Amino acid sequence: MTKLRRPAHEDAPEQPVAPYLDAVTAYGFRGSTRFHIPGHKGGDGADPGLRAALGGRALLLDLPQDIHGIDMGPSPTPYERAERLAAEAYGAGRTWFLTNGATQGNHALCLALAPPGERVVLQRNSHASLIDGLVLSGGVVGFVVPEYDSELGVAHGVTPEALERALAQTPGARAAFVVSPTYYGMAADIEGCTRVAHAAGAALVVDGAWGAHFGFHPDLPESPLRLGADAMLASTHKIVGSLTQSAMLHVAWNGLVDPGAVARAVRLVRSTSPSSLLLASLDAARRHLAVHGEDLLDRTLVASAHARVAIDAVPGCSVVGGELVGRPGVAGWDPLRIVIDVRGTGCTGYEVSAALRASYDIHIELATHTTMVLVLGLGSDPEPLERFAHDLAETVPRIARAGESRAVPLPPLAIEHGTVVSPREAFLGAGETVPVEEAVGRISCEAIAGYPPGVPSLLPGELVTTEVIAYLRELTAAGARLHGAADPSFATIRVLAARPSN
Ligand SMILES: Cc1ncc(COP(=O)(O)O)c(C=O)c1O
Repeated sequence: MTKLRRPAHEDAPEQPVAPYLDAVTAYGFRGSTRFHIPGHKGGDGADPGLRAALGGRALLLDLPQDIHGIDMGPSPTPYERAERLAAEAYGAGRTWFLTNGATQGNHALCLALAPPGERVVLQRNSHASLIDGLVLSGGVVGFVVPEYDSELGVAHGVTPEALERALAQTPGARAAFVVSPTYYGMAADIEGCTRVAHAAGAALVVDGAWGAHFGFHPDLPESPLRLGADAMLASTHKIVGSLTQSAMLHVAWNGLVDPGAVARAVRLVRSTSPSSLLLASLDAARRHLAVHGEDLLDRTLVASAHARVAIDAVPGCSVVGGELVGRPGVAGWDPLRIVIDVRGTGCTGYEVSAALRASYDIHIELATHTTMVLVLGLGSDPEPLERFAHDLAETVPRIARAGESRAVPLPPLAIEHGTVVSPREAFLGAGETVPVEEAVGRISCEAIAGYPPGVPSLLPGELVTTEVIAYLRELTAAGARLHGAADPSFATIRVLAARPSN
């Protein structure tokens, strides 16, 4: 296990600097002669349309790896300093900047923690990149099912009790992967989950893709690492303001995740030409959050609180949030998500969001049968939210119907599953496409999740049953989309080819 050394002083006097951004900027604008990639040479060789679209400055800053004074030269290089400052800001022992999203982090964590045959426990509705990570790594999986709000049709977090049971059913599990917060902004009890994971000898890994701002304001949930988690992912681009596709992977000080193993795995799933624009945006976003985050979040929290009241006043709409805290699977919540329950309008979230798009060019993060979810950022202005509440108040009476829209069900059958072979064997094994009715008793090569509710009904390596087929058909009939299905109409499915009998 690689040991991490704590820095001499913890008081973070360097957070106001952004060493990688500064180094890239200095190189980009000083007029060096470039006989290296990329071929556009700071913009001279780029298509004029691209230059006009991105601006010459962005192209000047688009640099490759291994430039002296940026990520080469005496250690710590500006790049190393930037990652260390990010680790310091999040209370991590080590941080990696990622240029293929939190997706890359999940792949790396699976490679580091779930080598062939090794067991891990996964939250059943984890992001698809975790199953893909197991396809890459060959690990074996046991599941923990999240709490489910059947009225709203929304999955919350896992409880420590459910995680404890899942770990007991997966003896020897090396790690437990949980999601917190959820797409709807609900945070799990990370302290409790850490306690039960550690008691079972497993590392707790938190997919905090949606919670890069946690821990930076007293009214927000604490950052998972400060609650005992061994590793966490943050999709910095989602809420904190780095460029799309950039993210961070953090590993705790001397926890149960070996930073040496993670470093090897990150290298494996990383391009040798990571985008300097994405990396610089991570350095800048960390500085912005560490230095001004509390003030910026204050502004968003005030804007969010006002908007909630205005949206709640629209007949048929009610805002869901803090009142859920304390229910199973909800230990905290994120006011940067505005979850609107639209059941009282008689319309689905899809219908209301389509009407808002058609009339006002409003584009929201997520619509389901029963809800619409808005995502805010740092320092959000109240004005667009005020406009939204006004536009919603105009739209809803125009399209409202009598009655209530209903949530998509999640019958227990949909989450009972029989894993026959590992995700890797199922994904890489010889497969064939068959009509779904002929697939009963065969092993799925596909991961299929209905959205909503977003909980996978089938994963690679699981047995296809009559019940699962009936459930997935019910979902499509109710208007849910099947994520991951090679045939979205669900007439056919890819299963492992039958072994020739000898
Ligand atoms: C819980 C969770 N984890 C990981 C990811 C992947 O993040 P990225 O898009 O940054 O690769 C997502 C994306 O939505 C997510 O919701």
